[in-house]
Amino acid sequence: MDRRAFLLTGAAASVGTVAGGAIGAGLALGSAPKPLELKIQHAQYPVLETPTQNMVSLSPDAPPPVLRLRQGQPFAANVTNSLPDATAMHWHGIRVPNAMDGVPYLTQFPITGGETFHYAFTPKDAGTYWYHPHCMTMEQMARGLTGVLVVEEEDPPGFDADIAVNLRDFRLKDDGQFRELYTKKGAARAGTKGNVLTANWKQALIEDAPAGGLVRLRLAATDTTRHYKIALSGPGGQALEGQVIAWDGHPLETPQALPHAKAPMTLAPGQRADLALKMPAGEGQEIVVATMLGYREHPLARLRSIGAAQTRDLAELHPLRPNPISVPDLTKAERHEFVFGWAPSGDAPRNGLCGSMPFTFWSINRIPWAGDAAEGTGPLLTMDLGKSYILRFRNESPNQHPIHLHGLTFRVLRSNKRSITPHWTDTVLLGKNETVEIALVADNPGDWAFHCHVIEHQKTGLTGYLRVG
Ligand code: C2O
Ligand code: CU
Ligand code: CU
Repeated sequence: MDRRAFLLTGAAASVGTVAGGAIGAGLALGSAPKPLELKIQHAQYPVLETPTQNMVSLSPDAPPPVLRLRQGQPFAANVTNSLPDATAMHWHGIRVPNAMDGVPYLTQFPITGGETFHYAFTPKDAGTYWYHPHCMTMEQMARGLTGVLVVEEEDPPGFDADIAVNLRDFRLKDDGQFRELYTKKGAARAGTKGNVLTANWKQALIEDAPAGGLVRLRLAATDTTRHYKIALSGPGGQALEGQVIAWDGHPLETPQALPHAKAPMTLAPGQRADLALKMPAGEGQEIVVATMLGYREHPLARLRSIGAAQTRDLAELHPLRPNPISVPDLTKAERHEFVFGWAPSGDAPRNGLCGSMPFTFWSINRIPWAGDAAEGTGPLLTMDLGKSYILRFRNESPNQHPIHLHGLTFRVLRSNKRSITPHWTDTVLLGKNETVEIALVADNPGDWAFHCHVIEHQKTGLTGYLRVG
């Protein structure tokens, strides 16, 4: 596809790319809300002591903000690119119309420097989601551009505080400046980890919440590589009251016990968990959210009780209502298999404007993704609109792959390695040689990106797309 030819045909208006910040191409203006202005730009921020330069955010000196949307309410954003490189914004886990999905060449052309793209959609599902670029991904995400997106329920569940925690690493030298964002060796194996773990870009995040109150803690793993092993602990080894109430945005049918050091909860890149917690009664007492590094609890964030103790009870919360996802008919579902593994000695991916890596290590069904502007690469599967499918995902590698599908929420049914309580998600983690089966209804038409969320894997072949309709 040639970008210039595309613009010359006038097709740009239908997808909303407009140069110079003019808005409105092809929009129904009647119900359009006032768009948020989001400007992708360079930032600096003291992650260590000396401010790190050349970060990427939506403001010059702060992390990407938590975007709060409301279920069933139209949302719009003008995403302006003030970087020299191209970009595109993706709303991870949100079931948007295909043209709003932010995948370069597949659903839109990259937003080049100075351009604005108008995104508009109405979130059907409440819960915890996130946003990140889908072009120059390694570069822009590693430098900071990952943010939490909250879709609030139509009827609020009744928490006293709602705290979003964006978990991610940075790869920094002692002087606070970036080191190489990844290594070739990392890309060929588990991915290159960061050395500075952060929560909302802080190494020691502290959030205040009313003592004795009920907190909704939204954890989002937005790192390019790291799999978190989340463990919570209360003051002085005190048992904590609470539950895991939602996973990847969607309420769990049976809430689960809180994770702790002996039974941590894995959050793979792209995954989220919502926890309902009761704060300790004593002023200044803390709940510590940690990730396990080996057997050691590395604190990521602290929730601190403030004020006079409230007497709330977790039983007072309204249970979260299930999101309106079509339930697959397992008796009629058509079955397909996908194999995730090494690439047959592949050529370097072809580069578009979106920063391909110079080598190929991974594949889906032995086909390595041919690069950003993967001309002539067809869908891995074409599904009929409205039909049910059972997809078997088989990992034939020793590395972990959080497999993410855009546009369609799916149900994890079973695994050959662990017992699974069926649940809805957009990103399922495949462990070493693990096979899982998922089911979905192909109810959202379009071409949907399908990839590993370890960005180095995504960018070195472990990418494809599924077509609906
Ligand atoms: Cu979180 Cu294809 O993305
Ligand atoms: Cu996504
Ligand atoms: Cu992977």
